[in-house]
Amino acid sequence: MEKLLIAANWKMNKTIGEAAEYIKDFIPRLAGWDRVEVVICPPFTCLAHLSEALQDTGIHLGAQNVFWESKGAFTGEISPAMLLEMGCRYVIIGHSERRQIMGESDQDINRKLKSASSSGLVPIFCVGETLQERETGQARDVVLRQLQQGLAGLALQDLVIAYEPVWAIGTGLNASPTDAQEMCGYIRESLGMIRDQSWAAAIPILYGGSVTAVNIAGFVEQQDINGALVGGASLDPEQFARIVRLNTDA
Ligand code: 13P
Repeated sequence: MEKLLIAANWKMNKTIGEAAEYIKDFIPRLAGWDRVEVVICPPFTCLAHLSEALQDTGIHLGAQNVFWESKGAFTGEISPAMLLEMGCRYVIIGHSERRQIMGESDQDINRKLKSASSSGLVPIFCVGETLQERETGQARDVVLRQLQQGLAGLALQDLVIAYEPVWAIGTGLNASPTDAQEMCGYIRESLGMIRDQSWAAAIPILYGGSVTAVNIAGFVEQQDINGALVGGASLDPEQFARIVRLNTDA
């Protein structure tokens, strides 16, 4: 894989004013650093502002959700074309918060993945097991089901996978780099079975769950981890810049 990919998921945080302040502080901190492709996924309301503020920075914009229909009577929803118009290249799909709080099913996620990728967005498709599923030895089965059902009938397109164990999200309890590698290796193996090996080898697989400047380096040195999806620690520009710089002094 050419470059690592590190994405910020701001979740439901930041007004336009706060986002503007963040970007002013963040951009200069990345000067001279091109080892990582950076993606920022703000709330929908900040997309227009960031689309302008990130022009010519090389930083990509992503959304946190999308609907599968292209238009019509779907109150509150946003289509892939609307996100493309805002300058988004990426969209997070299947985040565990949407699965758990909004009740999104594997079938909903499959529809969103199909619609987003056929429109030209690159999905950041999230998978991961709960603590109970891990403790009862079901982690691999759950992740395999999420992959198989999410990707069912999907054409070969650009895709990013984020492995986010639910128990590690926002808890400060990150997976160990070796546990994360074990699951990300399994994910790559499963992608190879679902499609083919050469496709699987080229898919960026991110780790997400309590990533910080202190632990980032341990994750990205693993064979099957190609970057990170960062929540809480991406909200502070200094912290997120340290993560993107892999906590080196370069
Ligand atoms: P935290 O980094 O806050 O644990 O969140 C991870 C996440 O959910 C990213 O999508």
